[in-house]
Amino acid sequence: MDTQPLRFVRHGQVVTLPAVAPQRTLLEVLREDLHCTGTKEGCNEGDCGACTVVVAEPHGDRLQYRAVNSCIRLAHSIDGMAVWTAEDLAAADGTLHPAQQALVDSHGSQCGFCTPGFVMSLFGLYQNHVGTAISREQAQEALSGNLCRCTGYRPILDAAQAMQALPAAPVNEAEVLSKLQLLAQEGRASEADSAYIPPRTLPELLAARARHPEAQLVAGSTDVGLWVTKQLRQFGRVLDLTRVAELRRVEPYPHHIAIGAAVTLTDAFAALVADRPHLAEFAHRFAGLPVRNSGTLGGNVANGSPIGDSMPLLIALGASVVLMRHGAKGPRHRELALEDLYTGYRQNVMRPDEVLAWVKVPKATASEYARVYKVSKRREDDISAVCLALALHIDQGVVRRASIGAGGVAATPARARQTEAALLGQPWTQATVNHALQVLRAEFTPLSDMRASSSYRRTVLGNLLQRFWLESQGTIATDLQQLHPCATAQEAAP
Ligand SMILES: Cc1cc2nc3c(=O)[nH]c(=O)nc-3n(C[C@H](O)[C@H](O)[C@H](O)COP(=O)(O)OP(=O)(O)OC[C@H]3O[C@@H](n4cnc5c(N)ncnc54)[C@H](O)[C@@H]3O)c2cc1C
Ligand code: FES
Ligand code: FES
Repeated sequence: MDTQPLRFVRHGQVVTLPAVAPQRTLLEVLREDLHCTGTKEGCNEGDCGACTVVVAEPHGDRLQYRAVNSCIRLAHSIDGMAVWTAEDLAAADGTLHPAQQALVDSHGSQCGFCTPGFVMSLFGLYQNHVGTAISREQAQEALSGNLCRCTGYRPILDAAQAMQALPAAPVNEAEVLSKLQLLAQEGRASEADSAYIPPRTLPELLAARARHPEAQLVAGSTDVGLWVTKQLRQFGRVLDLTRVAELRRVEPYPHHIAIGAAVTLTDAFAALVADRPHLAEFAHRFAGLPVRNSGTLGGNVANGSPIGDSMPLLIALGASVVLMRHGAKGPRHRELALEDLYTGYRQNVMRPDEVLAWVKVPKATASEYARVYKVSKRREDDISAVCLALALHIDQGVVRRASIGAGGVAATPARARQTEAALLGQPWTQATVNHALQVLRAEFTPLSDMRASSSYRRTVLGNLLQRFWLESQGTIATDLQQLHPCATAQEAAP
């Protein structure tokens, strides 16, 4: 089966690689084919950030830069983009890039494994904040996907805030954009039956899905990438939906937001947070930035992990999914409530020729009180042990509507219908909550696994409902954001 040549811009030059197999990762291509061993392999599963590179695509008349994990990113997914590795930053005369120099100046460079990844996350941050100051929070966000095992974060964060003050080292965007434009115009020979199919339009995607239902469908490959690196799976053919123009859009409507299946988690959460600012903390805790920069909301929902984070939230908010397939008379679609997508552990109602095209999320209303809680072993870059999302509509002290999504407590993301029934029509009081939390604890039979025991999960479920009640009463001390463990005794005093 033919594979089209892989083409991208690196160091101002077009790189063309023939015959790259569909499941090869970007990291393999960089290290093994291009011998760029500056980009490191640590965990090979998106966790440590040692393999971080920056990719860029045209966005209007500028470039949009994104730090991503090259270890789980399929190489062909960057065709037609620009890429930078830690070896591409220093000037020809050896002058270090500000991201590198600041790391040296701040004594932030320690082991040779993590440092290239930290440098690339800093480079992504630098390019996205040209000429503007970087706050500590922005630095932490940018480095959320980079692990340092020697506890050297403080100097690295210092470097992030210091690099903009050094002499500027701008990317020659005009040159990169013109090369990318040439690649786009050049196009590729017919890809409809190739080993890596990247359709550009929705009809093309649906036709390819119908013609090749056996092909491995991928979006950001932050789940699929691990099947390649950890389970050593081979794919005869890959169907990549991330180039489909219609599915790369977030579309606002009067009563809902439609998020296309190719929209990254970064952009999808930005849209959700714009409508419901209280989701910012939850969005920040979904994996780390490089995973959110590649992974999609559609991929999270379609993958259907019982501990996937977005689904409890989407269930509580009343989201639906639009499934599409190719039909003789044009595209066919059906829409269903998100919780109705799942039939069992990682199983769903999607036909082999169908794709999840849109996630539709109702907009917030004035009467909604909604919160989502994630309990995980690690605060950053970790998936949930338990996730609980609640959306209540309370009118004159009475619960008029309740929708509750739960993760980590059943074989699929689940809706807590019995608990909803226990709340509906009841006065919003501690007594009602006391009863509902018993119902919630009894409603599910969670598994014990490496993340948590069954009884812990049950206990936590009820505790989170109690927390929701307290927060609805204006108690904010339950919010971890309010705790400052590093504060001195004097600072912590009321
Ligand atoms: C380090 C790390 C941390 C993570 N942290 C979290 C976390 O905190 N919370 C969490 O929930 N998840 C987490 N994940 C899992 C993963 O990032 C998410 O599930 C992500 O949303 C998957 O999206 P994707 O686009 O990468 O999907 P892919 O990996 O491309 O696809 C996943 C599956 O969905 C299918 N699929 C994708 N798109 C569609 C579509 N449109 N229609 C039909 N099928 C489709 C694919 O065929 C595949 O079976 C983490 C992953 C890593 C590597
Ligand atoms: S090697 Fe650890 S994130 Fe890629
Ligand atoms: S910089 Fe590598 S362990 Fe800290």
